[in-house]
Amino acid sequence: LGMAAPAAFAQTFPTRPLSIVVPFAPGGPTDTVSRLVAEAMGRDLGQNVVVENVGGAGGTLGSNRVAQARPDGHTLLLHHIGMATTPTLYRRLPYDPVAAFEPIGLITEVPMSLIARPNFPANNLADVVAVMRQRREELNYANAGIGAASHLCGLLLMSRVDAPMTTVPFRGTGPAMQELLAGRVDLMCDQTTNTTEQIRGNSVRAYAVTTPQRLPTLPDLPTSAEAGLTGFEVSVWHGLYAPRNTPAPIIARLSQSLQTALRDPRLIARFAELGTAPVAQDQATPAAHRTFWLADIAKWRPLIQAAGQYAD
Ligand code: MLT
Repeated sequence: LGMAAPAAFAQTFPTRPLSIVVPFAPGGPTDTVSRLVAEAMGRDLGQNVVVENVGGAGGTLGSNRVAQARPDGHTLLLHHIGMATTPTLYRRLPYDPVAAFEPIGLITEVPMSLIARPNFPANNLADVVAVMRQRREELNYANAGIGAASHLCGLLLMSRVDAPMTTVPFRGTGPAMQELLAGRVDLMCDQTTNTTEQIRGNSVRAYAVTTPQRLPTLPDLPTSAEAGLTGFEVSVWHGLYAPRNTPAPIIARLSQSLQTALRDPRLIARFAELGTAPVAQDQATPAAHRTFWLADIAKWRPLIQAAGQYAD
């Protein structure tokens, strides 16, 4: 068979199961979002969409896996705000953090929440600030490595409070949550897609959501500003990517499928239980995604440079 024209590619695509690489461990927030998206896209595409967890190095190992994958639309990356911070945070990466990928569409923007081990000695955010200033590096802050959302939120918290903590990196906040529940780390700022059920079940202590408004799913949890810490706001956007040089008709088919997935009532209902919602349909497009992504890289660059913390 000779080379098929791009239009013919798109008509037959997909020809086999797809894989969505999640650059963090199973059981965490990116994994949770990805499995819901994978299931709904699979129904639309008529193929299984398998989630593959490639955690480590703040999401850069999994990103590299997709950067090196065949650009035929069958291997995709679902990643979050780390796609906007790693281009500045990492001095050296084995892939070009922008040029290696084709954006397919934005997915959701997830609030974060500051939580602690069950017996952490603080009743509210003001207490947390006082304990941080008193105990500084004696406190352990769990995150998912440099480039993770939990890393970014920790940086904001430590700079806002002006007290460093010792960071303990995991391959994702799924495993970090297990350590927090067991009382082996003190604090974590993590997405509500991973924390809502633990907070509602009282198995962790919770101090604030990092959004301007309270969440309907956690009505008793104050916003960071209400709890006394202004300027401690961050939410975590997610998007879907293919490797560079994936044919445009395949990107268009994938974007259409993502838009269909984001209208799926089961996905919408589960997102809502976890404190989030799909983006508006016109944001789940390659153009909107690229514009947002590039603007977010520019937004975070000076803040990261001012913090002066880089990875090699
Ligand atoms: C995860 O899926 O484990 C998280 O998104 C990690 C993080 O970015 O904090």
